[in-house]
Amino acid sequence: MTNNVAPHNTPRRTLVVLAHPHLDSSRINAALAAAVGTLESVEVHDLQALYPDFVIDVAAEQALLTDADEIVLQYPTHWYSAPGLLKQWLDDVLVRGWAYGTGSPGALAGKTLRVVTSTGGAAAAYSIGGFHGWPYEDILIPMKATARRLGMVWGEPLVIHGARDISDAEVTAFGDTYRRLLTCRVPENAR
Ligand SMILES: Cc1cc2nc3c(=O)[nH]c(=O)nc-3n(C[C@H](O)[C@H](O)[C@H](O)COP(=O)(O)O)c2cc1C
Repeated sequence: MTNNVAPHNTPRRTLVVLAHPHLDSSRINAALAAAVGTLESVEVHDLQALYPDFVIDVAAEQALLTDADEIVLQYPTHWYSAPGLLKQWLDDVLVRGWAYGTGSPGALAGKTLRVVTSTGGAAAAYSIGGFHGWPYEDILIPMKATARRLGMVWGEPLVIHGARDISDAEVTAFGDTYRRLLTCRVPENAR
């Protein structure tokens, strides 16, 4: 493992890269961001608020990523992928000579990458033969491959299906689950 991860006795610093084109009308992602935003070790980084014109400050983003031990990509699923601004962010920020192709481990090697996302489709619809045709785990392959390519640790994703159909109590419970995921320490030997 590289020296990019926090020593065992220091809290893990988590950067939540939030990408929602209309956070003001969001039910799930706004609630999730609020649930973890009060955690001391977590910074919620709202891409849409910072870069509505899609012009990304690459150096500033790379500095934030360098400081984090865990990077969470949080977004509503849009066409089986991330919203456009997050794709732009990935393309602009994770560049050759920094994230990879450095001749040594890239800047993010050893850090954790986790996806937190919501879908309109129900869980059962994400299956072979189901309405959406594939399990959601397959939809996550491009993100998982990105983590692997960069030498990152793939964190357990949190996928909330049926975003329009779940109750307020379930939204709150998912917020609690999210807080637990971000505060639970991974033992060194399990990384
Ligand atoms: C442009 C667009 C594309 C979407 N594509 C999908 C999709 O591919 N699969 C799906 O299950 N839901 C899809 N949805 C539904 C959203 O995932 C859902 O509304 C969102 O997760 C709700 O989160 P929020 O309450 O934070 O807005 C799409 C919604 C929009 C606006």
